[in-house]
Amino acid sequence: MIDVTFLKKSVTFSISKSSIFVVLEKIKKYSISIASKPNKMKPNIGISEKKLDAVTDLLAAVLADEVMLYMKTRKFHWNVSGESFMELHKLFENQYNQLEEAIDEIAERINKLGSKTIGTMDEFGKLATIKEHPGKYPTSKNMISELLEDHETVIVILREHVKHCAEKFNDAGSADFLTGLMETHETISWTLRRYLS
Ligand SMILES: [Fe+2]
Repeated sequence: MIDVTFLKKSVTFSISKSSIFVVLEKIKKYSISIASKPNKMKPNIGISEKKLDAVTDLLAAVLADEVMLYMKTRKFHWNVSGESFMELHKLFENQYNQLEEAIDEIAERINKLGSKTIGTMDEFGKLATIKEHPGKYPTSKNMISELLEDHETVIVILREHVKHCAEKFNDAGSADFLTGLMETHETISWTLRRYLS
């Protein structure tokens, strides 16, 4: 009899001279079975861990842009003034509510795909493409133009992500999810564009 401690587990084998190869085979099989055990944190949904990580990284960047756009829309809701004050005040409120819903869905999707979700302003600021303009208070027309530009930026980014999720990462679910999000931004953009025409 021989006791072997392997990967912190004790394994006992009966050894005879001729059975050393059997022992080695057992160790090999045991190590393979341990190595092939799935990471419980990562969902086993037919997408490799590497690809899931790529998708959640991409979703984190989308989340950061949505948070920036949400904050900017809120700022404009608070500071809009002029003849159309109430109309734009309500329009921006309606839009940031849609963004808030999207933020929650994106954050939870990152979790569903097995990753932690970022949640600090510092992380959002570093990952976002959408830029903030502290201390600037545009006219109501410029608020609309700026928001339109930002929503269109997000649409262009999302279109690329949809393609990558479907073709590169084998993740039809995220491609579909991001397509729905892109359509939300398209509708908001269409509404904003009408104010400028
Ligand atoms: Fe309000």
